[in-house]
Amino acid sequence: MSKAGEAEIGANSPHETHDHTAGAEKRVFIKTYGCQMNVYDSERMGALLAPLGYAATSQPEDADLVILNTCHIREKAAEKVYSELGRLKNIKASRAQTGKQTQIAVAGCVAQAEGPEIHARAPVVDIVVGPQAYHRLPEMIARAARQRGAVLETDFDVNEKFDALPKARTGDGPTAFLTIQEGCDKFCTFCVVPYTRGAEVSRHVDAITAEARMLVASGVREITLLGQNVNAWTSAPPAGEHAEAWGLGELCRHLAKIDGLERIRFTTSHPRDMDEGLIAALGDEPKLMPYLHLPVQAGSDKILKAMNRDHTAEHYIRLIERIRAARPDIALSGDFIVGFPGETDADFEDTMALVREVSYASAFSFKYSRRPGTPGAAMRAQVAEDIKTDRLARLQTLLEAQKQAFNRSLIGKTLPILIERAGRNEGQIAGRSPYLQSVHMDGPARLIGGIAQATIRDVTPNALTGVLVDALHEKGTA
Ligand code: SAH
Ligand code: SF4
Ligand code: F3S
Repeated sequence: MSKAGEAEIGANSPHETHDHTAGAEKRVFIKTYGCQMNVYDSERMGALLAPLGYAATSQPEDADLVILNTCHIREKAAEKVYSELGRLKNIKASRAQTGKQTQIAVAGCVAQAEGPEIHARAPVVDIVVGPQAYHRLPEMIARAARQRGAVLETDFDVNEKFDALPKARTGDGPTAFLTIQEGCDKFCTFCVVPYTRGAEVSRHVDAITAEARMLVASGVREITLLGQNVNAWTSAPPAGEHAEAWGLGELCRHLAKIDGLERIRFTTSHPRDMDEGLIAALGDEPKLMPYLHLPVQAGSDKILKAMNRDHTAEHYIRLIERIRAARPDIALSGDFIVGFPGETDADFEDTMALVREVSYASAFSFKYSRRPGTPGAAMRAQVAEDIKTDRLARLQTLLEAQKQAFNRSLIGKTLPILIERAGRNEGQIAGRSPYLQSVHMDGPARLIGGIAQATIRDVTPNALTGVLVDALHEKGTA
């Protein structure tokens, strides 16, 4: 998560499902690209298909159904899908030789954005399903088996999707995503999301609470609330309460009352929607983790205006000051785009200055990618590729230095670590700090799923290493 680079959004991509139901009749392979919302949706699709007899497999060669849950955010992300489809074409052909059928479905944002073109470009595809139509997958699979040519479903009805998708949990481990808001009304001029995910829609607090309780009952200790503009979330209060509409701050306080839920995070926030209620909750709700992903994209007001971000650099910096006043230890993360049309050297220097002023614990940074249909794609003064490359390298060097400085600042501190999994070597365990860093340490597997105190001893390029406090006591070195 904390990589400053041309990374896919969300650390988990590409993310492949694991085998967890042996012996079922049919197998599904789901590959996930893009943001955490796609990871969440892939889990829901897996849960939806389980009652139809589909068990997850991590091998496309074994799969009767392959689902690519795709991302359209940058050209590179979208093109990856077509190269994967090339590989799948061969797999489908060799399975056919042994009498096995394979259905191939393209889901997610490429499906929504490119719809019928996908089948034209990759006739191997049987099903094209947009992010708001997943609940129709079972019916589409049946239709695709009967007809020739792709079955296409890209209607928008987000609430129908949430109501219809199973809530059962398919993943394991003590952390989970929970989508509370979907879509975007901001129309930043570089971005495809408003077109692929539709208008902003919030789920009702009662539906969210029920899902959170289900997750906690299944062993989840940390929930990350998801939304393209998560802090634009709003809902009527819980049934029976007569308060005004709730915002994300109230929702977090409400969820924090669930026994057994230890940590709450949310992503991605928009600077325009950071209200006082949420800032106050970050300040005084201990279950809200001291980490905030708050993309700014650029530091030049001229570029921010051309991006239609609806805030200035000054507005963002003042906002950060207010957030830090409320929660002094907050670790900040951001997204940056270099080489947006019209960006001069001076504009880029404004981005560097903003980064120096704010100082980030982690960040994602990208070269501007021209996306068909967005206003940015039609702008004159597109920036040359080599200039983008140079600017990205300079920005990433600065962001990486800030990240390393932040990581090193924790050496010697004792932090609560949510232990998520066994480590790479025997006798090791790994988890997450409150600031979302990976922390590796020696320790027994029985600690997995709970929170343990560890003293940070060292940093590696992408993680921290620590020593369990109990282990320190045992050795008498604390
Ligand atoms: N909703 C979030 C981010 C959504 S997309 C927000 O408002 O910030 C995640 C990130 O991808 C964006 O923050 C942006 O930095 C990057 N991105 C989006 N479109 C892009 C494009 N056309 N070229 C390069 N990066 C882009
Ligand atoms: Fe895209 Fe802007 Fe919406 Fe974020 S706020 S999803 S960058 S349009
Ligand atoms: Fe990509 Fe769609 Fe998420 S375009 S970033 S998968 S909302």
